[in-house]
Amino acid sequence: MAMLNILEFPDPRLRTRAVPVETVDDELRRLIDSMFETMYAAPGIGLAATQVDVHRRFLVADVSTDKSDPQVLINPEIVASEGEMINEEGCLSVPGIYAEVRRAEKIRVRYLDRDGNEVERDMDGLLAVCVQHEMDHLEGRLFVDYLSEAKRQKIRKRLQKERRQQPEPAAVL
Ligand code: NI
Repeated sequence: MAMLNILEFPDPRLRTRAVPVETVDDELRRLIDSMFETMYAAPGIGLAATQVDVHRRFLVADVSTDKSDPQVLINPEIVASEGEMINEEGCLSVPGIYAEVRRAEKIRVRYLDRDGNEVERDMDGLLAVCVQHEMDHLEGRLFVDYLSEAKRQKIRKRLQKERRQQPEPAAVL
């Protein structure tokens, strides 16, 4: 396993639309394991392949508080949804920024699990929010896209300013 670099807004690579996974094999599972390691270390509750510059349709999530519920969704599709809810969301690719986003309250998702088996499952609560957020990443969409252009511009400037203020990392040889 290896820690992966997480792309940050406004990196244009986050705008890539991911392509379907064709085979669920050991190479993919190794990448999935590295994504879990990266997500838990961040720490975060969800990570889409797009965020680690892999433009294939899969994501990992764990909304438990003790790393006890790892979920892998490969080629996820929302086949039904109902209701509406508004939650405050954040994103590992937009560090330190939180905003309210409207999502479906319940979703039914069809996907392949890490063994390549087809699963259809109903989700609600935080897991439903997380999966909708991560599936947006696979479309090249970020939660800040739901905000006004003025707000998005403000966030872009704030992140650029913060990056400039960070001292250059010391040379590690
Ligand atoms: Ni995100």
